[in-house]
Parts: sequence; C-alpha cells; structure tokens
Amino acid sequence: MRIPKGGIAFFDSGIGGLTVLAECMQSIPDGVFYYYGDNAHAPYGNLPQKQIRRYVFRAMKKFKKLKASAVVLACNTATAVCVEELRKKYEIPIIGAEPAVCPAAKLGGEIFVLATCATCESQRLQILCKKARSLYPDAKITLQPCVELAAKIEKEDFLNIDLSKFLPKGNPTAVVLGCTHYIYVKEQIENFYGCKAYDGNVGIAKRLQKIIRLKNEQKMEKFNGKKHFCKKNRDERPPNEKNREKRPFLPPLSNTKNEKEKVNECSSKKGDEIAKRGDFAVFYLGNRQKTNMRSFNLFLKNRKK
Ligand code: DGL
Repeated sequence: MRIPKGGIAFFDSGIGGLTVLAECMQSIPDGVFYYYGDNAHAPYGNLPQKQIRRYVFRAMKKFKKLKASAVVLACNTATAVCVEELRKKYEIPIIGAEPAVCPAAKLGGEIFVLATCATCESQRLQILCKKARSLYPDAKITLQPCVELAAKIEKEDFLNIDLSKFLPKGNPTAVVLGCTHYIYVKEQIENFYGCKAYDGNVGIAKRLQKIIRLKNEQKMEKFNGKKHFCKKNRDERPPNEKNREKRPFLPPLSNTKNEKEKVNECSSKKGDEIAKRGDFAVFYLGNRQKTNMRSFNLFLKNRKK
C-alpha cells in the first residue's frame, strides 16, 4: 500500500483517539491523516509507565519514517507519561491531549476528573489540577480513576454500557473527560451525573490547525523565495501552469484536484486498510486497522444523530 508522506499523525492506545481525529478533520477538511491505534496493547491505563513509553516510541518511529507534518497524541495517558520526552527527541510538532480541567473548574463546585489510573497518577495532571485550584478556588477538584471503563469501550460495547459499574458515585457540578475513550459515552456520562462533561478535543483541533497553517505558510514563503531566483519560471506561461511541477507539496492540505485524486486513488486500492470520506483520507497504521475503521464510522454515525 502506498501511503503518501507528510500527513498528520494521530496516536492512541486504541479507538479513543478517533474522537480527536473526527474533530480535527472538521478544521482541516482536506488533510491527509494517519491513525495509529495500538489496540493490541490497549488499555494503557493500568500498564507500567515504561511499557507505555516503549509503545509510544514505536509509533513515533513509524511517523518519522512517513515524515509526518505533525503528531497528535490523542491519548491522555500517553501524553501524561511521555510527551515531554518525545518533544526532546523529535523535531516534529507534537500536540498532547490534556484534560479540560480549567474550563470545568471555572464553574466552581465539585469537579470530577475522570481518567485512567496512569493519568491520575501522573505529575502532569497533578500540576494541572494545582493550577486550576489556584485559579478557581471555589472549585473542589477530585481525580477519579475509572479502572475498567476504557477497556469496556475499547471492546466496542460503548452503546450499551451500564455506567454505574464504572463511574464513581456523586453529584458533581461538572465532569472532565480525561481519557479520549470516554468521549464515546459523553452523552451517557452527562445523563448519568446530570451535568456537563468537558473534553479537550476542540482545543486540540485549534492548536493543530494553527501549527499546520504556520507550516504551510513557511513552505510557501520558502518556495516563493526560490521561485524568485529561478530563471525557468520567468517564462510566459500562466502562473498556475508555471508552478505546477515546482510547487512544494503542502503536507496536509492537498491544494489541487490532482493531489486529492492521487490520495483517493491509492485509497481505493486496499479498501480494507483505508477509510475514505469525501475529500478526507485516513490511513490506518496500527495493529487493528479494521477495528479502528469500524469504530470511526460508528462514532461518526452516532455523533450526527
Ligand atoms: N484513550 C486513552 C486516554 O486518553 C487511553 C485509555 C487506555 O488505553 O487506558 O487516556
């Protein structure tokens, strides 16, 4: 299978990151996306940090080979465990997933942060909660590890889960979904507690869009700079014609019809491994590609209702 280089890479332990991908696709509709779900090792939430790190670095190697233009760690657990190390090692911009503690804490009252054990134990989340407490002293923030919830959702059971078996009891003012898997049952969680649930997906999509825009601007500037000194381009052909073969490939935004067609062409070669949706192209890279494709379609279908 030919996978175009320079796409935007998403990583999660399993299906959770697909909820982030769905959000990001809306803000970068003509992007090329990779989705690496490490479903064979999910859930990560109860694994030792060392093991999680090893799995995440394995995925990063793959992204580097594909010359990914940006990486989204669409996994709060992986972000909590190793985002800083990844940023030190790789030059690719890496966006992490961070529980939306501050927006929820603004409301004051009792705030439940629902996350995996590894995320709850992480220094990163402790620091974030400390910051939120000092900014919003009226908020009583408690970390609530949900031990088996991600595993249950990963089994594609998310439409019929008895949440009372997985969620802590209480009467919070708001809950924070600190695990991307929980977004599959966001509405059910809101109904369960009778309050709003916050997730960080819109924030991630905004950050990603900004990075991609900046990268493309830099590429165009570089290209225009070169073009200025290039003799060949001083001919009489119209600008579009002139630049066709010289124009740099802007990784996530396929500007011309030709590029879009190229991506879709190779998508249709192996329908099993690739999902297509209009101008969108997702290349599944992990160890359970069909599972992720199925879950993604189910998530999109359900979300529309
Ligand atoms: N979806 C992931 C997160 O955001 C990981 C869940 C898991 O694998 O335990 O934390």
